[in-house]
Amino acid sequence: MTEVPAKKKTIFSGIQPSGILTLGNYIGALRNWVSLQDSGEYDCIYCVVDLHALTVRQDPAALRRRCAETLALFIACGLDPEKNVMYCQSHVPAHSELSWLLGCFTYMGELQRMTQFKDKSQKHADNINAGLLTYPVLMAADILLYQSDLVPIGADQKQHLELARDIAIRMNNLYGGLFTVPDGYFGKAGTRVMSLVDPTRKMSKSDEPNSYIAILDKPEEIRRKFRRAVTDSDGEIRVDRENKPGVTNLLDILSAVTGEGAQQIADRLAGKGYGALKDEVAEAVIAELAPVQARYSEILADKAYLEGVMQSGAERASRIAAKTMRKVHKKLGLAPYKL
Ligand code: TRP
Repeated sequence: MTEVPAKKKTIFSGIQPSGILTLGNYIGALRNWVSLQDSGEYDCIYCVVDLHALTVRQDPAALRRRCAETLALFIACGLDPEKNVMYCQSHVPAHSELSWLLGCFTYMGELQRMTQFKDKSQKHADNINAGLLTYPVLMAADILLYQSDLVPIGADQKQHLELARDIAIRMNNLYGGLFTVPDGYFGKAGTRVMSLVDPTRKMSKSDEPNSYIAILDKPEEIRRKFRRAVTDSDGEIRVDRENKPGVTNLLDILSAVTGEGAQQIADRLAGKGYGALKDEVAEAVIAELAPVQARYSEILADKAYLEGVMQSGAERASRIAAKTMRKVHKKLGLAPYKL
């Protein structure tokens, strides 16, 4: 008798097509995703969420370009499009279809109390569109469409994942066994990269450019940004997350990139100035990112390859999505049909 292999758990994550990924995304997320891929233990699906991006005004040419750039950057970081499903959200219409259906099981009150909706409504007061409100429903559709078990997200998306779980549970109670109820997936602790300007905050591309290192920053920019990184005035290199967040962040980054323990680095550099630490971090980060940047340029130059990746990713995603959609149509009582 042949053994049936246990079904692997599905990991799903959505990424905004901003075209910028930071050193924080790289250390905190992408590098871990490459290890997940190499472990072979999961089926991973990574979706560039271009429909979500439309909740704020976009320049069409820029949006189109950034979708391709985001995928290229993923591949450059080591994600293999053969081993993971990687595609653009708008290429798989099932996301929008399921979003409508889930919306009929989501309450206005639930959506209106989302902190991101409240923040974005303030920020874009001239364009509080319905998409801004239903954003988390589309996100729930992304996740539930693939019967995802685990969803890697940052803290800011926890509330949205919680809503996706609530919708899944609600519909499972009504119809029986429709969706896998997803859990958050949080990477290893200590891989949280902080802002170079305010090291008590997470590194984010929505802050000023000096506060983050972008994966595609040139060596001289990386040197300059680290040189200006906020530290403190006691001049002592040691790990102290509470009192010395800036210095500790630099030690953590160097440690994440080289594998040497943060404490060891601190001991080795004891007595030297912050300048020495900053130079060492900068050079280590430059060396780590150089091959990624080189691959990125190659991939982006090969349009046909990138289009092929998008196409086959969307086809693979559509096949998985179709299974869920058939089940949902049937259970909700939509008239049967053959295509
Ligand atoms: N809302 C997420 C963000 O802004 C992106 C996203 C869309 C997502 N769909 C998703 C993340 C599904 C995880 C799963 O970061």
